[in-house]
Order: sequence, then C-alpha cells, then structure tokens
Amino acid sequence: MLQDKRILLILTGGIAAYKGLDLIRRLRERGATVTPVLTRAAEQFVTPLSVSALAGHKVYRDLFDLTDEAEMGHIQLSRSADLIVVAPATADIMAKMAQGRADDLASTLLLATDTPVMIAPAMNVRMWDHPATQRNLTQLRADGVTVVGPNDGDMACGEYGPGRMSEPLEIVAEVEVHFGPRPLTGKHVLVTSGPTHEPIDPVRYIANRSSGAQGTALARALLDLGAQVTFVTGPADVPPPAGAQVVPVETALQMRDAVGAALPADAAVFAAAVADWRVASASDRKLKKTRDGMPALTFAENPDILAHVAQMTEGRPPLVVGFAAETNDVIANATAKRARKQCDWIVANDVSPDTGIMGGSENAVTLISEQDAESWPRMSKDDVARQLAQRIADALT
Ligand code: C5P
Repeated sequence: MLQDKRILLILTGGIAAYKGLDLIRRLRERGATVTPVLTRAAEQFVTPLSVSALAGHKVYRDLFDLTDEAEMGHIQLSRSADLIVVAPATADIMAKMAQGRADDLASTLLLATDTPVMIAPAMNVRMWDHPATQRNLTQLRADGVTVVGPNDGDMACGEYGPGRMSEPLEIVAEVEVHFGPRPLTGKHVLVTSGPTHEPIDPVRYIANRSSGAQGTALARALLDLGAQVTFVTGPADVPPPAGAQVVPVETALQMRDAVGAALPADAAVFAAAVADWRVASASDRKLKKTRDGMPALTFAENPDILAHVAQMTEGRPPLVVGFAAETNDVIANATAKRARKQCDWIVANDVSPDTGIMGGSENAVTLISEQDAESWPRMSKDDVARQLAQRIADALT
C-alpha cells in the first residue's frame, strides 16, 4: 500500500516519541522508506541510534551539520519526500509551524517544504486545551496540514483527556488514506455549514450556537477523497477548509441563493444550522430604547433549503444529505424529518447541552436512510466527517 512512498518523519520531544519508533517500523513494513529527523528535545526521549537502526536510514539532527548540507541541503531534504509526518508533534512545533518560524532543522524543513504535511499532536491536556494551541491548530488546518488525533486517555503526566498521540496504526491508516484512491475525483459536492445570522437591525441579529466545525470537517474529508467542494458557509467560528470553493453568506435567504447558484452537484450535504425564522420587520436603522418598552418583532419563515433541493424535480443532486440537531427523541424525530424533507440521508445528533457536542470537538451521530438507522459510536468530528465522506463516495461510485 505504501510501496516506494518516501516519508520524512520528524520526531519532536515528547514522551510519545517512543511510539514514533513503532511508527517507523509500521511504515516500513508497508513498503515506505522513512527518513528520520530528530529535534534536540526528541533526543532526550529516543536515541538517534535506535531511530536510525529502525529506519535503516541516516538520522538528520542539525541544521548546521555541514556534511548534510554538502550531501543534501535542507531545502532538498524537505522536498525529496512524498509526505512529511510530524509524530509526535509537540505544542512547541505546532506554534512554530503556525508562525512560520525556522530556528532548527525540523522547523526549517517544515517552512521550506512544498510537500503535504501531517501532524500527530501529543501533549498534556491543558496544553492541548490552551487557547494558544487551539489557535495554532486552527491556523495549521487552514494552511492545509492534516491533523491526526490526539486521542483521549490517561496521560504519562497522570492526567486524563485529549492529548495522547494517536496509536502508530491510526497514523499509518491516515497515511494510507493520503496516498489512497481518490474516489470522488471529478465529483462536485456542495456543503452548507455554520449558523445563519438574521438581522433585527443593522447592529443586532438572531443566531444560534453552531460553530461550523462538523460541516468544515466534512468538507475537508470530501476534499481529501478528491471531490471538488463548494462550501456555502454562514458566519462560523472555524475557518473554511483550504482547497474548497468558499461562498460566505450571512442569512438564510443568501444561503438559499448561494446553494441555487452552486448547483448542479453530484451530492449536497446540508450541515448548516439555518434559522427557521427571520425578522420580517428588520429595521434599516438601529432600534432605540423607547418609553413603550421592547419593540415587537414580527417573523417570517425562512425557506427550507434542504427540503427545496431534496424535492427538486429537475436537477436534484443524486444524493441529498441533511443534518438533524435534536435534543430529545433523536432517532424518531430525525427519521420523521428525513421522510418529511425527502432527503436521502439524515445525520442525526443529540445537541442537548450536557452532551457538549454543539461547539465541541466530538460528535455521536446516527445515520438515517430510508432503510435503516445506524448509530455510530461517539468520536471526533473529524472521524465522523471521514466516515461520512467515505459513505458518500461509496454511494456515488
Ligand atoms: O428542520 P431542521 O432545521 O431541524 O432540519 C435540519 C436540516 O435542514 C439541516 O440539514 C439544515 O441544514 C436544513 N435546513 C435548511 N434550511 C432551513 C432549515 C434547515 O436547509 N431553513
């Protein structure tokens, strides 16, 4: 599967570096060649000798190693691979990558490269949750970096939570996806995402708590499978995926028009949390406090974009997928919703506040079709996206 693939593996300094040794073995078992790079800190956790013995290759360690520069400059080293994998990726290397710093061999290679980059973060849960790391993560994703994990679990530091590096075989699976077939090549998939903002007046609006995380992850997974993606997004918290045709909108009416303009498509996935109602009496001037108390707002119903597209008699995308965010009787409500809207699938999830799903990084969904309802275990939104994208690929090919 990875026969003759050239992987530049950068190990940075974390206790998970020991798993990097196993990763080298697993990649080589599958036919890849592994060129290892160690940071100074990584050398505190694994020795250059064990890394080079497992890789069957010289270990690169120092930017200013003149022999290496004579043999192979860092620019060439960074480009002579088919994929760069950083595993483990510390909070520090993520920060350097996000900022474009180049103060050692690893960071310089990552800045100099035009090769795709995959990272497997590993760090203490507080470091992972820190706003700075989350900001860097968002930036790296927007730059096109593939992020594998981290997983939840017990950590070497005695804490529990997200921050454990993915297992070597999980990373290998992602590497295989990267080099794998792109079944959606030539297919156009439309994805809506994020909330809509419905103005009350020029400074106020009605909105909802959708972050756009699931729709964005799905668009990214579809792009990874080779699809051409039109991404119609309301004002989301997360940046849109690199490589998509992005159409930013604010209101449901704008979203409807953007969706209409983006058709035809081979599949359309409606992950946006569209406001059901807009303010019919929206003012073009800022509303003032008056003695009469609160101004009365009158509402008009927004068009149901999903139902409209699912019920098109001409030019209906062959696969139309909706999402259903429910807080009770999730499967029953979503099953009825699928039949009512006449879409092919509904991805149902429970967004009750205690699930932490809305705005969180995980999701637990049930995929509902005409034939059945399949509940998937709780997993990261990225994993939900990858599985759903694969299902879409299976349905279209
Ligand atoms: O009816 P409800 O809002 O629960 O349905 C959710 C599904 O319908 C989502 O896929 C959402 O994107 C879509 N929807 C839409 N237009 C609306 C309301 C919902 O496309 N006006």
